[in-house]
Amino acid sequence: MVHFEQSELLKRLPEQFFASLVGKTQALKREGHDVINLGQGNPDQPTPDNVVKALQNAAGNPIHHKYSPFRGFSFLKEAVATFYEREYGVTLDQETEVAVLFGTKTGLVEISQCYLNPGDTALLPDPGYPDYLSGIALANAKPSFFPLLEKNHFLPNYDEMSEEALDLAKLMFLNYPNNPTSATATREFFDETVEVAKRRNICVVHDFAYGAIGFDGQKPTSFLESEGAKEVGIETYTLSKTYNMAGWRVGFAVGNHSVIESLNVIQDHLYVSLFGAVQEAAAEALLGDQSAVDELVTTYETRRDALVKAAKSIGWEVTAPKGTFFAWFKVPEGYSSEQFAELLLREAHVVVAPGSGFGETGEGYVRIGLLDEPERLEEAMKRIGQLGVF
Ligand SMILES: Cc1ncc(COP(=O)(O)O)c(C=O)c1O
Repeated sequence: MVHFEQSELLKRLPEQFFASLVGKTQALKREGHDVINLGQGNPDQPTPDNVVKALQNAAGNPIHHKYSPFRGFSFLKEAVATFYEREYGVTLDQETEVAVLFGTKTGLVEISQCYLNPGDTALLPDPGYPDYLSGIALANAKPSFFPLLEKNHFLPNYDEMSEEALDLAKLMFLNYPNNPTSATATREFFDETVEVAKRRNICVVHDFAYGAIGFDGQKPTSFLESEGAKEVGIETYTLSKTYNMAGWRVGFAVGNHSVIESLNVIQDHLYVSLFGAVQEAAAEALLGDQSAVDELVTTYETRRDALVKAAKSIGWEVTAPKGTFFAWFKVPEGYSSEQFAELLLREAHVVVAPGSGFGETGEGYVRIGLLDEPERLEEAMKRIGQLGVF
């Protein structure tokens, strides 16, 4: 077998931290254990029926058997604009301020190729969603991490960032409701972000993956609701979480027209566009009956309440998440994140994600997903309680 030397670009890519977690989970399952998997971010509910039916109907339409238009069908971009107006009161020009994406992971990686030259820097949350870093590594650029600390409600504190880091940064990634801390952002925070970005000439990329998932009657705020946001950045929105469509690979970016144009240009070279029938189904998701979204939020909120209560009953205190489908737990004294996650996996057969996988500042935490029924979450806490570490 010839060993073909990988390119420098490929070698630069960070290790996929969570791949080993998936491997260990599968090994335990193969051994016949009843594993409660709360470690990943894969929604466990099905896509709403009206969306599946829209795909089924559209799949037979010969127009969709051809290449679809390069930058997506106008009907989908129009649906996105209607959705943003309806949900957030944000007006978008469907042709210049909307880019169709193959899930938002792609857009979040592409944006770094669009704006970073080798050696440039981008501001990144620590802890944070790992794929921002993948894009930066592909661009041979440098991450400049800012910590998300409990004392700041897991929001960046711009006053505590160095002048140099702010001046050098070309991009800044933000994500609220936040994976992994489950924190939410206020309108005031986004207003301040617009001011900082304007002053320092930074392009803001707000990842709104959990935009639909806010608890206690609080609807998460879109970055674009802040005045001037479109001048300084974009927001990415995925259908993966809101409509349980993670396998469908569909999302979009909205906002600053020059940034949208750049994303479209890079995508002109990488892809044609999504299967037309998926685009029809996505438009149905955005414009059709939204009751499944309300039910989904209620489902996650019920699970959150069950998890927080069960955790308390074993002596493991946690701040109740305000959004997302994650809870961010501190590990007990004497354990690192990885050691504690390993203990839960081996001894309780409960999979959680070690916080250190999301960055240095995630050390000392584990992320638990609300991705199973309340009884299973309670069972997970019962098993953890039996380890006698609290
Ligand atoms: C914070 C965050 N951003 C982006 C994504 C990517 O979602 P998708 O590629 O399915 O749109 C995820 C998925 O887990 C996520 O948690």
